Amino acid sequence: MQTRIEVGILGATGMVGQHFIKFLQGHPWFDLRWLGASDRSAGKKYKDAMVWHSAGMTPDSIADLTVEECKPGNAPRLLFSAMDASVATDIERAFAEAGHVVVSNSRNHRMEPDVPLLVPEINPDHLKVIPLQQRNRGWKGQIVTNPNCSTIGLTMGLGPLKQFGITKVLVTTMQAVSGAGYPGVASMDILGNVVPYIGGEEPKMEQETQKIMGEFKGDRFEPLPAKVSAHCNRVAVIDGHTETVSVELAGNPGEAAIREAFDSFSAVPQQRQLPSAPKHPVIYMHETNRPQPRKDAERERGMAAFIGRLRPCPVLGYKFVVLSHNTIRGAAGAAVLNAELMHSEGMLD
Ligand SMILES: NC(=O)c1ccc[n+]([C@@H]2O[C@H](COP(=O)([O-])OP(=O)(O)OC[C@H]3O[C@@H](n4cnc5c(N)ncnc54)[C@H](OP(=O)(O)O)[C@@H]3O)[C@@H](O)[C@H]2O)c1
Repeated sequence: MQTRIEVGILGATGMVGQHFIKFLQGHPWFDLRWLGASDRSAGKKYKDAMVWHSAGMTPDSIADLTVEECKPGNAPRLLFSAMDASVATDIERAFAEAGHVVVSNSRNHRMEPDVPLLVPEINPDHLKVIPLQQRNRGWKGQIVTNPNCSTIGLTMGLGPLKQFGITKVLVTTMQAVSGAGYPGVASMDILGNVVPYIGGEEPKMEQETQKIMGEFKGDRFEPLPAKVSAHCNRVAVIDGHTETVSVELAGNPGEAAIREAFDSFSAVPQQRQLPSAPKHPVIYMHETNRPQPRKDAERERGMAAFIGRLRPCPVLGYKFVVLSHNTIRGAAGAAVLNAELMHSEGMLD
């Protein structure tokens, strides 16, 4: 595990690209050496190719790197992708075909039948589809994806409950503005307001949840046979998606059993002590008014899901709140943890 691995970022100048740069600083396994973006940025020093939107300054080790075009050639084998969805399909495929391991944030390949949509705490075995993907496509490389920023919090909250047989899920989101990238929603539209529509988000959340929580059957993914209904809203919060969830469980567990499931939840990333794995992936908060995005989203490096207010739901059985950091656990941090899991499986050797 001590071998250092060179990595690059496709879409390094964008908002998620900047989160990758921050998240990879000081990483014990991965050395960020290569930055790719559009031909508008290629050839420029990184500091001249973008406007840094995150807190703090562009790290010194990155600021003077020259941005490259997103074409296979001199890039490292392992690439994190934060590319604009309008171009990600072909570019990610070209890199995978050329032998690269593409660990992507973009939505483009998530629902393809031979592409893992990975949450390391929930479905690490979905990586077993990779040989099939490589056979199907004649690739030496591969594409692995992480879910949409709203899906990840929901699946982290549902993961501990899967043992009870999930049959119905109703989720309402309050999603931060950073989820829309930069500049995102106009301030005149969001300040003092709630926008009850995020294009394409609800079907994404419903389908991705079923794929992630489903089973890999050796040659295909069998989705979780649960009905999932999502209401997605944009709210005037900078970082952190809050979601209220009602769930029906076939096993009809008591409240204490559900609390115990949340409190004791631990999975492969924790057992293997992967560098970006939170010690407790799910943290139940006792306070009646938590979790809250401003107070809790950044805790545990933004990698845990915070849960609270478990109580009976007169319609579906139980209800609770879940909060996760949308640009860390919902984007850059998720992809880095995916790559760490792949390394622990020997898939980057
Ligand atoms: N924002 C979030 O919270 C979030 C969460 C999860 C997933 N995502 C997904 O992550 C991806 C990036 O989101 P973002 O908010 O970071 O977007 P963004 O700020 O608009 O950045 C897009 C990146 O794509 C690059 N790009 C655009 N056209 C290109 C081309 N033809 N060839 C190569 N690179 C090109 C841009 O480079 P230039 O600067 O050179 O144009 C930039 O680096 C999207 O697919 C998004 O859906 C976002």
